[in-house]
Amino acid sequence: MFYRTIDYLACPSDKNPLIADKITQCSEIKNPSCHSRCRLYCAFKGVQIPNGIAPEDCGKCHRLEIITATLKCPRCGTAFPVKDGIARLLPVEKDIKPELQTSMAVKKSEMKARDEFSAEYDLKFPPGRDLLETKSFLKRLSLSGYDAVLELGSGTGRLTMSMLPSCKEIICIDLSFESLKELSRKIHLQDGGTAHLIQADMNFIPLRKEYLFEKIACSGAIQHVPADSKIDAIKEIDRYLAGNGIFVVSAYNHSEMTVETREKEGYHSGRIYFYRYDQDEFKDFLSSVFRVCEIAGMINLPTHKVVGNLMKTGLTWVALALEYLIQRTKLSFRRGEMLIAVCRKKS
Ligand SMILES: C[S@@+](CC[C@H](N)C(=O)[O-])C[C@H]1O[C@@H](n2cnc3c(N)ncnc32)[C@H](O)[C@@H]1O
Ligand SMILES: [Zn+2]
Ligand SMILES: [Zn+2]
Repeated sequence: MFYRTIDYLACPSDKNPLIADKITQCSEIKNPSCHSRCRLYCAFKGVQIPNGIAPEDCGKCHRLEIITATLKCPRCGTAFPVKDGIARLLPVEKDIKPELQTSMAVKKSEMKARDEFSAEYDLKFPPGRDLLETKSFLKRLSLSGYDAVLELGSGTGRLTMSMLPSCKEIICIDLSFESLKELSRKIHLQDGGTAHLIQADMNFIPLRKEYLFEKIACSGAIQHVPADSKIDAIKEIDRYLAGNGIFVVSAYNHSEMTVETREKEGYHSGRIYFYRYDQDEFKDFLSSVFRVCEIAGMINLPTHKVVGNLMKTGLTWVALALEYLIQRTKLSFRRGEMLIAVCRKKS
């Protein structure tokens, strides 16, 4: 994360703006790809910005990457660490309501499992699947170089890495610290694009309420939020969606194809909770908070045989054209491995 990142941050429990308490280790970036200045709080100068005009030295905030630090909530006094360049902003247990304790236990087991398997996670996905999934998101997000994107459940960054070259910056939120470390490695190797990495729970988004996003993405994460906190999760996401913004979200599809072979609800290995939605359920779930503008089945083509072979022979565009064609039809609800939806604010 950068000095600039702190401008975005709030306490996950009470949403009070965080301040930099102690910055122990940071390094300077030679060619930062993002030059935006702090809007509300400049950590480099250690001042709130009442008039929206950043202090002169704020130019440093996107150049200085913070590796180790302590952030603090002035209201409740909680200290939050920054380690390996990742802000660790999970809610403090004592602040979690008793009725949410069970779902927190489920999330904890997911966090542990994701941490353990973070190095192997990307290997599960053949290039053909990556292509169909990331391009389907990019098509709907239609990113511009001015966009600041909020991504929830970014994991090791399969989607993040494909969005980075097309937007100004991405705020990546995930439960798993080790997955974010994987993502951080990839970003440093690629040497381009600005991502602010935050370990947090999408039910307690640790961002200042003043920051609203025109583009929010959530790829394959919402199906892992336990039943008793999933409505709260999408309400929380709605708080950060700008009036004209879009929220693009995907989840497991429970279609005619999977109904015989796959469980509707259960746990993957490592006690990772999951739920498979059918198209109506997914629409109803999202409609309880958002206006659902589009819903389709995604990953309709066999990714190994068909998409992989087309990619090898330079016919990637054919695979995408076929996939998009199916996504426009009802067939996609039967064939698609995932569902993808585009949501807007209700009013
Ligand atoms: C199936 S992975 C998807 C990762 C990535 N978006 C992708 O498409 O490959 C789901 C991710 O969501 C994260 N996750 C699950 N529940 C979450 C929550 N409540 N808040 C934040 N992240 C969560 C997990 O840690 C995991 O990295
Ligand atoms: Zn600044
Ligand atoms: Zn606080």
